[in-house]
Amino acid sequence: MEIVHENTWKFWSFIVDKVFNIEFRRVTENMHCKLIREISEHEIGLYIHFPFCRSFCKYCPYYREFWNENAFNKYFKALIKEIKLVGKLLNDLDLVVVDAHAGGGTPSIPQSDFWRVILEELKSTFNWKADFGIEANPEDLADESKTFTLRDAGVSEVSIGVQSFHRSLLRELGRRHGPEDSIAALENSKNAGYNLVNIDLMFMIPGEDLKIWEEDLRIAVELNPTQITTYPTLLTPQAIIWDNAVKGKVRQPIKLFEKFVNLSQKILDSYNMVRIESWSKGGDYSTVNLEMTGPLLALGAGAFGFTGTYEWCNVHSVREYIRSLLNDKLPVAVARSVNTSERTSRIVADQLFCRGIINASFLREKLGYGFEALPKPFKWSLRIMKSLGFLEGNKEILKLTRKGIIAAHKFIWTFVMKVPCKLAYKLMETPWPMRINLP
Ligand SMILES: C[S@@+](CC[C@H](N)C(=O)[O-])C[C@H]1O[C@@H](n2cnc3c(N)ncnc32)[C@H](O)[C@@H]1O
Ligand code: SF4
Repeated sequence: MEIVHENTWKFWSFIVDKVFNIEFRRVTENMHCKLIREISEHEIGLYIHFPFCRSFCKYCPYYREFWNENAFNKYFKALIKEIKLVGKLLNDLDLVVVDAHAGGGTPSIPQSDFWRVILEELKSTFNWKADFGIEANPEDLADESKTFTLRDAGVSEVSIGVQSFHRSLLRELGRRHGPEDSIAALENSKNAGYNLVNIDLMFMIPGEDLKIWEEDLRIAVELNPTQITTYPTLLTPQAIIWDNAVKGKVRQPIKLFEKFVNLSQKILDSYNMVRIESWSKGGDYSTVNLEMTGPLLALGAGAFGFTGTYEWCNVHSVREYIRSLLNDKLPVAVARSVNTSERTSRIVADQLFCRGIINASFLREKLGYGFEALPKPFKWSLRIMKSLGFLEGNKEILKLTRKGIIAAHKFIWTFVMKVPCKLAYKLMETPWPMRINLP
C-alpha cells in the first residue's frame, strides 16, 4: 500500500501495541454511575459530540450520520436529558467546567436555537467557567447571519474545517465547500467577534505536493486567524476511500512527510507553536488533549469521556442513543479502568509528543508520581529517542529536539490510528459490543 497505515512506522507501532494493549467492556449502569464520580481533579473539561453531517467526506474517520431534521429533534431532547442525568449524578462533587467544546460531525449545522438552549442547560447544571468552542464547516460560516447567530447564542470560539485552499484537493477529500467559502467563513468569524478562530488544514492529501502545501500555508498566514492547525491525512478502514486505497488506487506522498512537516515549521514561524501540529497567536483550540489526560466529561452519541482513572464511550448510534435516554438510561456502550502507569504514559505522550516538553514536577503534581511510573516499553522508547538525539534533558525535564518533532508526529499518527480511530470503527460496527480489544 502506498498510504500511511497503522504499521508504517514499525518502531512506533511496536511501542503503541505494548503500551496501549487495552480492553473495553460492557458496564452496568450502577457501576458506571459509581466510577464516573471518581474524578481526579476539581477542574474538568466537557465535550459534546454532534454526530450529523450533510454528506460524508471520503477520508473521514469520525463517527457521523446523515443529517436528518427528524432525528436531530429527537437527538436534541435526548442530549438535554443526558445533561440532566449526568449533572444530577455529579451534583455534590463541586466540579468546575473550565474547558468546553463541541465536535463531530458538524456542530455548525443547526439553524435553530440549538446551541443557546444547550448552553443554558449546561450553565444551569454545572459550575461554568469556560469558553465554548465548536467545529464548523466553512459553508455554514460563509453565511454571515449564521456566524453572528452562533456568537449570540454563546459560542465564543470556532474551529473552521478549511483543509485546503485548492479546489482540486477539496474535491479529492469530497468536501462540499470551495476555497471562497473558507475565506468568507474566516472573515465573518472575525467580524462576529469570536475570542478564538482556528482553521484546520490537512496535508499529505493524495495529489498534494510541497508547492501546494506551501501555498496553503502562506494563504492561511495571510488571512491571519488566531490559530492554524495542520493535520496529516489519516486513512483508516472506516473511510469511504479505503477500498480504493487497499487496491493501490490512492497514493500518499510518504517519502515527503518530513518535508511537509518542516515546511509548516518554516512558514508558520510568525505564530507560536502550541502543539506540534498547531500554531497560535493567542489561546489553543484543542479537543484532543483532554481525551488523553482527563478529566473530560463526554456527552452525546459517539463521545469519549475520561475521569483520570475511568474511561468510557457513549454508544455510536443516534437511534440507540435516543432509545437509551428515552428509558432514562445513560448511553454508555463500553468502559474500562485506567491504571497509574497508563495514565502516566498518556500524560507524558500528551505533554512531550504533542506539546514538546514534560516536567517531572507536573507529573508529580497531577499524579503523585514522576517518570518512574511509566511502563517499561515507554521508558525504553524515551531512552532510545534520547540516544538518537530526538530528546534532550535530564531526570526532571524532557524536551523534543527539532529532529524529535518528526518522531513525535509518527508516534501520534500511529497512536491515533491504532487506538481512538480503531475504537470508533469497532463501535460504529456494533453499537453495544460485549468487549473491544485494542490495538
Ligand atoms: C471532526 S472534523 C469536524 C469538523 C467539520 N465536520 C469539518 O470537517 O470541517 C475535525 C477536523 O478533522 C480533520 N480531519 C478530517 N478528516 C481527517 C483525516 N482523514 N485525517 C486527518 N484529519 C482529518 C479536519 O481537519 C477537520 O477539520
Ligand atoms: S470531515 Fe467533517 S464534514 Fe466531513 S464527514 Fe467528517 S465530520 Fe463530517
